[in-house]
Amino acid sequence: MMRAMASRPLRRLLRAAPLLLLGACSLIGIDGPMTSLEPQGPFSEQINDLFWPVFWTAVVVFVLVEGAIVAASFLFRDRPGRKEPKQVHGNTKLEVIWTAIPVIILASIAVPTVRGIFDLTECGSGAMPVEIYGHQWWFEYRYPENGAITGNVLVIPAGREVCATMTSEDVIHNYWVPALNGKRYLVPGHTTYLRLQADEPGEYWGQCGEFCGLSHSLMRARVVALPEAEFQSWLAKQLEPAAEPDEGSEAAAGLALFQQKGCIQCHTARPWNTVANQNFNGPDLTHLMERDVIAGAAFDNTPEDLKNWLANPPLEKPGSYMPNLGLTEQEIDSIIAWLETLK
Ligand code: CUA
Repeated sequence: MMRAMASRPLRRLLRAAPLLLLGACSLIGIDGPMTSLEPQGPFSEQINDLFWPVFWTAVVVFVLVEGAIVAASFLFRDRPGRKEPKQVHGNTKLEVIWTAIPVIILASIAVPTVRGIFDLTECGSGAMPVEIYGHQWWFEYRYPENGAITGNVLVIPAGREVCATMTSEDVIHNYWVPALNGKRYLVPGHTTYLRLQADEPGEYWGQCGEFCGLSHSLMRARVVALPEAEFQSWLAKQLEPAAEPDEGSEAAAGLALFQQKGCIQCHTARPWNTVANQNFNGPDLTHLMERDVIAGAAFDNTPEDLKNWLANPPLEKPGSYMPNLGLTEQEIDSIIAWLETLK
């Protein structure tokens, strides 16, 4: 009876363990969208190439040290009539050896680590510049070469280095797309640099890596790498304004609501609004329908998710600066009809 009672929490834990493990794996494990162990570009590969030798060195040190502790506790354990084993305290030779070995190991880890830290943030000369701005709670992307501005999804050319110049408009954020590079802070009033490159066209997930307020966990980074020619046409298209909705259509009613309800104060949507509030803005909506995610890449860009989002942003994303405008269902439908024309 006593035994059964004592083991019940343990049994529960054991039963829950595979679930917890699976839960963790679905986010960050191997084959998960956020693993650092499957590099997709030269910079993440550089980190990976450093990680594994350090990991195996640590494994060898662990096995040797733990093995020595276990061996010593068996070989030299106290038995009746046993004399005290030979004491080695103050043995100069041993002191030198077990100081020198860690020094050599740590130095051989530190040199490539420090070199790598600088290398991963000092952009190559031919890199394509991109500016990344952190906002509570989404990332804004600007392409200084042609003036394009977008948000939530960073589109880059595959196989080419991108040099991100980063800063924050409010609090400290951290840009982390594990398949492409390590983490790097976005600090208000300060500029940091990060090299990004994807070897192949594809989609890569990331996450703000610094607690930055209520919806930090919903501040995601998404990178889409396109073949060079596709990227160039995407980039050129960003400068085009959106099409005027047909007069009298539901989309036209949606555009009117966008202008009347105050959305236009924070969101750029060309040609109707070319410069939204520079210091306190939301994502540029001109080509919203090209993106597959909304609201800091936290939700899918589907009519259902857009509906939930417009109905009550702070409910979907705690602390959201996009307020609940108290829109009616009809108003929301009209706005979505207009948003769907923003291709
Ligand atoms: Cu931004 Cu966490």
